[in-house]
Amino acid sequence: MWKFGERTHFIQELQGLKEGDTVKIAGWIYRKSELGGVVFLRLRDSTGVVQVVAKEGSMSKEEVESARQADIESSLLVEGRIRKDPRSPTGIEILASRIKVVGESHDFPIKPDSGEEFLLDNRHLHIRTTKMRNTLLIRKEVLRAAEEWFIKNGFVRFEGPTFVGTAVEGGATLFEVPYFNKKAYLTQSSQFYLEAAIFAFENVYTIQPSFRAEKSRTRRHLTEFWHAEAEMAWADLNGMMDVAESLTRYISQKVVERAGHILEALNRKFEPPDNRFPRITYDEAIEIARKKEVSIEWGDDLGTETERVISLEFDLPVFITKYPKKAKAFYHKPDPKRPDVVLCADLLAPEGIGEIIGGGQRINSEEELLMRLREENLNPSNYKWYLDLRKYGSVPHSGFGLGIERTIRWIAGLPHIRNAIPFPRTPTRLYP
Ligand code: 4AD
Ligand code: MG
Repeated sequence: MWKFGERTHFIQELQGLKEGDTVKIAGWIYRKSELGGVVFLRLRDSTGVVQVVAKEGSMSKEEVESARQADIESSLLVEGRIRKDPRSPTGIEILASRIKVVGESHDFPIKPDSGEEFLLDNRHLHIRTTKMRNTLLIRKEVLRAAEEWFIKNGFVRFEGPTFVGTAVEGGATLFEVPYFNKKAYLTQSSQFYLEAAIFAFENVYTIQPSFRAEKSRTRRHLTEFWHAEAEMAWADLNGMMDVAESLTRYISQKVVERAGHILEALNRKFEPPDNRFPRITYDEAIEIARKKEVSIEWGDDLGTETERVISLEFDLPVFITKYPKKAKAFYHKPDPKRPDVVLCADLLAPEGIGEIIGGGQRINSEEELLMRLREENLNPSNYKWYLDLRKYGSVPHSGFGLGIERTIRWIAGLPHIRNAIPFPRTPTRLYP
């Protein structure tokens, strides 16, 4: 790891050293205590925590005093010698010969009993705490594994724009932004741009933010979320589900492999799904929901509660296929055998989490797409370029989007989606 400034070691690297070795470390005060005139500082850096002992004899009286005065979250440079100490949790401590307070901290606002709203208002400080750091390390592994799966499987990375001119997922959740003398929107999904890209690269993906003006305050909606999307030329609905399943399995396996100890620290017992994910139809799903006394009409989209009830019936993530046409966006291909349903699939994560992936097979004929646009009262002239993709060498194709934060929420077992992202954006939160 790169080292800057005077430090010679990261805390994690101290383990390999011998009694009496001298080191310079840097970090922040995590805990502090005092016993018989000796000051014990638990110092944290990005790699771990170690106990630093400040006492007269090894250091001047003034330096011991400045260690005594330093408050939680002060930043320090510490020079000292390694001491093996079987009583310390890491087996070693540092007997300090010099302590320099680099940045003072007084009365760090985050306390063990701080309330949720207070923590959200102070997210810029909260991210330093053990629980938030651990959660964000799980996020890092989810993003890394997702990207890695795509690279390993030969998908080409391709980004869509953030400013767009039309809706992908319907007008209700569009964020409008002034754009010179026009109106623009923040993208709800990069799907249409990925669809353009398959004609150049066949199998493509992106991992970038999507935006939804979701007014409802729920445990699974953000207004800005990270979206891993894939689009594959020549793939049908089953092909799409195979890709989505393989990606989801890979992410959950790699997180456990690389960060199982962090999941443990978060008290999360998570087993990556082993068996093949069940695939059931919408019709079968609403039967299950009705047996659990959820009232749902055929044709309704599955709401949070319905998804929760269905996903509790399975130990594995479950695909729900073939939703009613009217419950889904215009671009989904109607089932040729039964045109009132579309060739789509949502993946619901277990334990009541619900939808983490939405996708399906796209309409690939210009005529059929025009018909669906008109049926939905959408103006085809707004979708001219999207219709063009059906004019020049159209092919059957499918794709999906996986919500990164929902996936993190599932794997890390978070009660609320807002802890799955460093600075959550919701209808009531634009700060910090
Ligand atoms: O099901 P959605 O709306 O599908 C699409 O956007 C497709 N155009 C994707 C595609 O086929 N390329 O969104 C996909 C996923 C959802 O399953 C969910 O995990 C996540 O994106 N998602 C959200 N996550 C957090 N907050 C929100 N408001 C979300 N809306 C969707
Ligand atoms: Mg969806």
